[in-house]
Amino acid sequence: MDKNSKKNEKLDQLKDHTTDNSNEKLTTNQGLKINNNQDSLKSGERGGTLLEDFILREKITHFDHERIPERIVHARGSGAHGVFKLSKSMEKYTQAKFLSGIGKETPVFVRFSTVAGSRGSTDLARDVRGFAIKFYTEEGNYDLVGNNMPVFFIQDAMKFPDLVHAVKPEPDNEIPQAASAHDTFWDFISLMPESMHMIMWLMSDRAIPRSLRMMEGFGVHSFRFINSEGTAFFVKFHLKPKLGVHSVAWPEAQKISGNDPDFHRRDLWEAIENGAFPEWDLGVQLIPEENENDFDFDLLDPTKIVPEELVPVEIIGTLTLNRNPDNFFAETEQIAFHPGHLVPGIDFTNDPLLQGRLFSYTDTQLSRLGSPNFHEIPINRSIQTVHNNQRDGHMRQQIVKGKVSYEPNSIGGGCPYQAMMKDGGFASYGERVSGAKIRARSESFVDHYSQAKLFYNSQSEPEKRHLQKALIFELTKVTIPEIRERMIGQLNFINKDLAKKVADKLGVKVKILDQPNGSIPADHDGL
Ligand code: HEM
Repeated sequence: MDKNSKKNEKLDQLKDHTTDNSNEKLTTNQGLKINNNQDSLKSGERGGTLLEDFILREKITHFDHERIPERIVHARGSGAHGVFKLSKSMEKYTQAKFLSGIGKETPVFVRFSTVAGSRGSTDLARDVRGFAIKFYTEEGNYDLVGNNMPVFFIQDAMKFPDLVHAVKPEPDNEIPQAASAHDTFWDFISLMPESMHMIMWLMSDRAIPRSLRMMEGFGVHSFRFINSEGTAFFVKFHLKPKLGVHSVAWPEAQKISGNDPDFHRRDLWEAIENGAFPEWDLGVQLIPEENENDFDFDLLDPTKIVPEELVPVEIIGTLTLNRNPDNFFAETEQIAFHPGHLVPGIDFTNDPLLQGRLFSYTDTQLSRLGSPNFHEIPINRSIQTVHNNQRDGHMRQQIVKGKVSYEPNSIGGGCPYQAMMKDGGFASYGERVSGAKIRARSESFVDHYSQAKLFYNSQSEPEKRHLQKALIFELTKVTIPEIRERMIGQLNFINKDLAKKVADKLGVKVKILDQPNGSIPADHDGL
């Protein structure tokens, strides 16, 4: 099948920036033809190299600056272009135009990633996988920056740097490269009961997918849909792979990592090259605003799922990846996702983890991509015309004509914003908010074990055995006995049999923690 058989406005836009240099003569960056790419300019055949050799200097200087910082998390990734096709109009729930009108197609770029490892680390690490989608919509870019697990480790963005410092290689010896098997990770986790539900997912087979084409995706947080009447619905996003969910067992994962650390990347690339285009159903769970308090957990708590028995997932369309990038760095590496890239009809909630993410992404991309103009990098450009009065800055690409870069004005088009509000400009959902400033966590976030239990109990016997073995493997690597004991204490709150099986293998006595209802231990530093 022809990769470009469908009209894809994003690919058309990228064509203007793509060159095929295979038959071109070598030139300098200024377009000067080069006549010798083997030898530097010397003072005599065996003489020193001359400083004036601008061709050598340019070549080496550019090489010296090839590396940019890798992502602080999700550094290891693989991406592809594709299309999202809507099969069920969501017009009743959201004004978002790309979700209205059956059969509507929207170009996308998707990047999958592991979280903890560096850019060159193995694909098969036991880890969470990122599943980030950029929809190039007619109303601007919409990013769904999700993971392959429906919950997260922590409830509040305040703990994110601590989580990442605990899971990344230890600062003294930069060990281990793999995700979780070490003292600092388990030390932190054993002190954070809110992470227990996520830990059950992370120790399960879900953490070692067979293929990126065979894993689910989740938006994790509750977001909002808002329809044209201003009525809002909570929405949870799901991606379900058409190939089903498949994993590998841990011993297989270790062998594959040794043989081919690019296993997932290669599989995705080859599948797309061979026309076996990976597909996912995009589904939503919709909850009317008035039903916000119908659950025994808080919809704003990212460590909780909304069970599908309570709110079924409605399938609304299909995501298909049908074209590999032309250039890994220019596209997969330079793409910049952000959970705050919204379109009218979609908005945030007060989930305190999501709220912190809204600050983090642009901030990190400023240093990772090095300029406030990174939205002008071809892969990040909206297919819409971008117009605002921002100007200048490092590496500005767009040449904006005229002398007016302020508003209101009377000489350069007047006050475009007033017209835009009438013409469907983005307006935040008018949620009523009130309350005293308080640095605290809601009581409704305090149950850390019910859904962890639910997850463990939902596993089949072989899956339970894999999960037990994963914990045994992980905790065997922990060198500090108190951390192991504390962790067994946490497992005991989830399932006594699980705790006992792990404890027996580790030769640890089950220690019952003195913690009311799974809250932060009393001796833990106050929040
Ligand atoms: C990447 C921060 C939670 C999914 C990143 C990056 C940062 C970050 C700084 C690197 C971005 C870049 O360099 O372009 C945070 C913070 C979080 C948080 C502060 C919590 C407070 C989450 C959660 C999810 C998630 C809950 C899933 C729902 C991702 C994904 C990427 C990413 C998929 C990789 C995007 C890509 O492929 O470029 N995050 N994150 N993050 N994050 Fe988060």
